[in-house]
Amino acid sequence: MRSLLLPLPLLLVAAYPVGGSPQPQPSPLAPLGASVPFWVRLSPELVEVAPGRSVWLNCSTSCPLPTKPSLSTQLRRGRTATGPGWVSYELVNVTAWSSIARCHATCAGETRQAIARINAYKRPRSVILEPPVRAGGRYTLRCHVTQLFPVGFLVVTLRRGGRVIYFESLERYKGLDLANVTLTYTFRARPSDLWQLVTCHARLNLDGLVVRSSSAPVILAALDWSPESKALAFSSIVAFVGILLAVGTASLRRCLATRS
Ligand SMILES: *[C@@H]1O[C@H](CO)[C@@H](O)[C@H](O)[C@H]1NC(C)=O
Ligand SMILES: *[C@@H]1O[C@H](CO)[C@@H](O)[C@H](O)[C@H]1NC(C)=O
Ligand SMILES: *[C@@H]1O[C@H](CO)[C@@H](O)[C@H](O)[C@H]1NC(C)=O
Repeated sequence: MRSLLLPLPLLLVAAYPVGGSPQPQPSPLAPLGASVPFWVRLSPELVEVAPGRSVWLNCSTSCPLPTKPSLSTQLRRGRTATGPGWVSYELVNVTAWSSIARCHATCAGETRQAIARINAYKRPRSVILEPPVRAGGRYTLRCHVTQLFPVGFLVVTLRRGGRVIYFESLERYKGLDLANVTLTYTFRARPSDLWQLVTCHARLNLDGLVVRSSSAPVILAALDWSPESKALAFSSIVAFVGILLAVGTASLRRCLATRS
């Protein structure tokens, strides 16, 4: 078959004449009505990036015609690089927790697309449970979860002797910055609590990707009253359970500065 030796662009032109209906002599390789075999690829298909950072996506196509694939996304673009059949796009300052980008290419009148997902998250830098304060027949636990993103997907759990005694979901917070979270929880001391271990756990539940961090265990001891623990216990009893959230662009900038 001599037609096998024809360069592909010629075959495409034969099968899809510009501006007219298909000719009544079908080519053996591209029969009438059949679509042109070509692919569009966007890679990587799933990228994980620290909030505020940038990422490169490569949009490529096997279409033999000199068409440039193009990218559509709500993320901000930076630089681009191109080569035969591909364009690489930089997406900068990714602060949305999850976004998509679409790569389109048109080959002989047919458009195809490929999709990539870009997820921005940061696991907590630290999860610290302060030594429990015992005052007025109660223990007060204070757990600090620092520099995480996105805070709305965080669940903080306190465990005593391995059992969950309290958990709090922060889904009501929609911030777009790194966050510090402090959970305060007070409970009545029982004799059986003495010398039990307590731990604090942070879980980011990101649509299937689960990121866990835990504090070192601390022991429930029978501590004496000290002036500071008295003050802490009183303030904690007023705010029986509390979440304190600190978010700031300052901390995001600092985090990026230390990373680069
Ligand atoms: C983009 O993808 C194409 C085809 O897969 C490859 O040839 C090219 O080297 C890639 N470019 C970059 C910058 O990775
Ligand atoms: C990154 O995006 C955030 C939120 O959209 C914005 O407040 C910040 O100014 C941007 N930073 C840079 C360096 O463009
Ligand atoms: C969060 O905590 C870190 C370390 O503990 C601290 O450096 C940073 O300033 C805090 N950020 C905010 C917004 O409070």
